[in-house]
Amino acid sequence: MAAQISPSILSADFARLADEAAAVADSADWLHVDVMDNHFVPNLTLGLPVVESLRRAAALPLDCHLMIAEPDRFAPDYAEAGAGSVTIHAEASRAPVRTLRAIRAAGARAGLALNPGTPVDGVADLLGEVDMLLLMTVEPGFGGQSFLDMVLPKIRRARELVRKSGLDVWLQVDGGVAESTIERCAEAGADVFVAGSAVYGADDPGAAVRHLRELAEG
Ligand code: DX5
Ligand code: ZN
Repeated sequence: MAAQISPSILSADFARLADEAAAVADSADWLHVDVMDNHFVPNLTLGLPVVESLRRAAALPLDCHLMIAEPDRFAPDYAEAGAGSVTIHAEASRAPVRTLRAIRAAGARAGLALNPGTPVDGVADLLGEVDMLLLMTVEPGFGGQSFLDMVLPKIRRARELVRKSGLDVWLQVDGGVAESTIERCAEAGADVFVAGSAVYGADDPGAAVRHLRELAEG
C-alpha cells in the first residue's frame, strides 16, 4: 500500500489551526489530532469542541488520537463529530471490543494504539475489530521526542500478524518520525506516518510532507 502521511497539529500554532491545516491540505492524507486529558498522559491539549470546529475548517479527514483515561466513555463522540479515524489506547480501554465497534458504527475507522512497552501479541485477537494499529515510537504525551528504535521489531511483528490474518489493517507509527527515521519505519512494515515537529517545524510544511512521503515510498 502507498504511504500515507498524517501531520500532527500538536506541533502547529493552536491560534491558527485552520491556516496550519490548510498548509498541508494538498500534500497530506490526514490531519492527526492529539487529544490529551492530563490523566492518561501528563499533558493537556484539546477536546471535542476543537475537533468539531476543525472538521468544518479543515479539508483533510481528521485522524483523532485519544490519549485519554476514559476512551470507552468518550471515543464514540469523536466518531460522531465526524472524525475519519478514532484511535484509542489499549492501556486505557476496559472494553476495547465494544468501543472499537461503537467507533465503526458511528462511521469512523477504528484504531488501537500501543505504547512502546505494550506487546502487540496481546492484541492479536482484536485485529478483526480494528482498521489501524498505532505503534507509538515515543512514550505518548509530547511532541519533539526522540524516536525509539526498540519499537522496530514490534512493527515487524505487527506486520507479520496482519499479513497472517489476511485483514486490511493499517500500521501507523507516531513519535519522532522524521527524515532520519521514516525509512526504518517503512522498511519494518509501517504504512501510515504521523509527523509533528518534522512537518510543522519546517519552513514549508507542505514540502516537508512531500519529502517524507518520498522517503517512505523509497
Ligand atoms: C505524542 C503525540 C504525537 C506527537 C508527535 O504523544 O501522539 O502525535 O505530535 O510529535 P513528533 O512528530 O514531533 O514526535
Ligand atoms: Zn499522536
